[in-house]
Amino acid sequence: MRDNKEFIKEYTETQYKTPEKLKARYQIYEFGTSKTSWANWIFDKIHFFNKSLILELGSGPGELWKQNLERIPLDSQIILSDNSEAMVKEAKLSLSCVNMFIDFKKIDAHSIPYPENKFDIIIANHMLYHCIDIDKVLQEILRVLKPHARFYASTLSKNHLIEFKDLFGDFDKFTEGFMAFRGRFEIENGAKILSKHFKKVKLYTFRNNLIIPNAEPIIQYLLSYSNYSKSSLLQSKINELRISLKEKIESHGPIKITGISGMFEAQN
Ligand SMILES: C[S@@+](CC[C@H](N)C(=O)[O-])C[C@H]1O[C@@H](n2cnc3c(N)ncnc32)[C@H](O)[C@@H]1O
Repeated sequence: MRDNKEFIKEYTETQYKTPEKLKARYQIYEFGTSKTSWANWIFDKIHFFNKSLILELGSGPGELWKQNLERIPLDSQIILSDNSEAMVKEAKLSLSCVNMFIDFKKIDAHSIPYPENKFDIIIANHMLYHCIDIDKVLQEILRVLKPHARFYASTLSKNHLIEFKDLFGDFDKFTEGFMAFRGRFEIENGAKILSKHFKKVKLYTFRNNLIIPNAEPIIQYLLSYSNYSKSSLLQSKINELRISLKEKIESHGPIKITGISGMFEAQN
């Protein structure tokens, strides 16, 4: 785990400067064995109130809403936000069909530009571990949540995709981001972090192991973590990895990868 503020800021800004790397990463989940998609599973867990005012922080390209278009309660008002200008733009573009009740805003979760007691629901999926000061973000969330409103925060298990760590062993500089944020806010320690701010904290766990039948999706996943230009040295190492993965699959069959993530529901 790297807890260096400058590293967190620089790495996160570079990774999410455009949506491409994150969108490339979503593709590995096509090999998931769960019958329910992650976005549908999350949506099932959210308890919508009548006329909910909802804020999503770090919403990325808005995948949660894109995959649940038909299920968005018609009386709700939603603000999708992200610290990355390009993510906000992408979310706006892909959800233009429902923009009557969705607003889009660039917001840094450390400083939420709304008054006290405003929102019924706040959602922060797979984003708290990127925040420099998680406690400060949680204080901000509490400030703008109505009393008894709900906060939903999804994250990974420390064992999520853990087999990639060995497969990518040689690519430490290239895949810095894959392990760097581990341990900051995971399903194993998230309840402890949230309990400092919320009285009730509940965890829902989502199992979605992957069975990957060929090397290329794994290579593309690895490349999505790169914040660096692809030197010829790295290219030759990638080719070596490609060959070794192909050999592994030919002799042992598809590669099995652990998928465990979850979502916390927090309330006062
Ligand atoms: C791993 S992506 C998750 C995107 C989306 N929530 C999802 O689950 O697919 C993390 C997102 O959090 C955003 N982010 C990182 N730090 C942030 C901050 N301090 N405030 C707001 N958004 C932030 C990034 O720009 C990125 O879009």
